[in-house]
Amino acid sequence: MNRLLLILVSVLVASTSASHICLDAACSSFNVEADIVLVVDASNAYDQATFEQIRTFLLNFVGSLTVTPLDSQVALYAYGSSAQTVASLTDGSSLGSIQAKINTTLKYQGSAERNLFQALTKVQAEVSTMSGLRGAAYKKVLVVISGDSWTGNTVIGSSVLTQLKQKFNVILSVGFGAKALANLNSQLPQLTTAAMNTFFAATPDQLTYVSAWMAGLSCPNVQFSTVSPPPTTVPTQSPSVSCPLASLSYDVYLIVDVSNKASAADFAAMKTAIHNFAAPFAFGNLATNFALVTTGIDSQLYFTNFHNGQTRSDVLGAIDELHQDDVPGQALNLALSAIQGYLAQPSSASNKILAYFTSTTAWDVSPIASMNSLKSKYSLSPMAVQWSASAATSDLTNLVGGANCVNTVSNKASTATWLQNKMCAKVFC
Ligand SMILES: *[C@@H]1O[C@H](CO)[C@@H](O)[C@H](O)[C@H]1NC(C)=O
Repeated sequence: MNRLLLILVSVLVASTSASHICLDAACSSFNVEADIVLVVDASNAYDQATFEQIRTFLLNFVGSLTVTPLDSQVALYAYGSSAQTVASLTDGSSLGSIQAKINTTLKYQGSAERNLFQALTKVQAEVSTMSGLRGAAYKKVLVVISGDSWTGNTVIGSSVLTQLKQKFNVILSVGFGAKALANLNSQLPQLTTAAMNTFFAATPDQLTYVSAWMAGLSCPNVQFSTVSPPPTTVPTQSPSVSCPLASLSYDVYLIVDVSNKASAADFAAMKTAIHNFAAPFAFGNLATNFALVTTGIDSQLYFTNFHNGQTRSDVLGAIDELHQDDVPGQALNLALSAIQGYLAQPSSASNKILAYFTSTTAWDVSPIASMNSLKSKYSLSPMAVQWSASAATSDLTNLVGGANCVNTVSNKASTATWLQNKMCAKVFC
């Protein structure tokens, strides 16, 4: 039932700097001028000690902002067996008072219930001009932090969620911990208002990145003034492709290396190759659907409207906006777990393929067992595009199960048509 999926899986890799997360930040967190409403899971998704780490994370987040009635204001809600209003925007219009609310009013419930619906209903009813919500000049941001599947009324598709999407300029969702990754990976992205608005943090040390990410998306010029994308013309396929691509019905999982292994120019060329590969297909539920995951020091699953009325611009727009990290390393294994939520859904596609574009095989952990399991469990056919010789051909061959399914670096100029012809031939490894 859930088709939208956008996951940022953060992985523990020794001594990373925060800079790769902050790179794209559109402003310093001190310059954010927003009304920010935080909704936090206080259930037994976390033990008490982990919940205290969330409390510290919230203190750090508000401490990174300038909290005043003229800059940022922060409201806080918690949910478990019931929803708690911890602080209104008025309460959270000075740093001292929001810190005090976080310290003493925010309660760990430890409940088996996780009634997010009730909390969102409270947010919708209570967050108003009377409780401190400011005018249109101030950006309105809602952040939902979840640790495990929700109980209570269904949130996705509810009218309260529709109303919140009108009230807030930006809705972000954060999945924190292993249970969030396992049980909410298709739900969390559906809470949000845009691509890139879901962050999955596997471990507490990643909460620093979450804080920087939340602040970055609260910047005044991010997702606030809407600009409609230019119309795209339907591209024609290359004459060297052996079948009409528009007639194919495939699920295509694109996994793209964003490590710093490729030069900036080479990374841009790879994006163009991926764009050219995807562009000529027919998109939509009865044709071909594309999922997009980046993999570097962490792995991020992008919003592409996968099996949800996907259009060409959903896919090409996501590809065109890819950014490269400034650090080496690759969490491919996590990228493979990030697509399982999609793979597990029933699909009308006649074939499922994975196209992995990489300039490195310096994996944090071996992805071979995960790949073999996806192949046998979901009939997924993997192919690898060796974008640079620094990705070992032998590793790629082992990963996908045969040299026939690796496009080597010497043929990289023909990447798009190589992949398309494989899909026409339907012969994989
Ligand atoms: C809240 O708790 C933190 C950490 O214990 C402490 O540093 C801070 O002074 C407290 N602030 C308020 C306003 O209670």
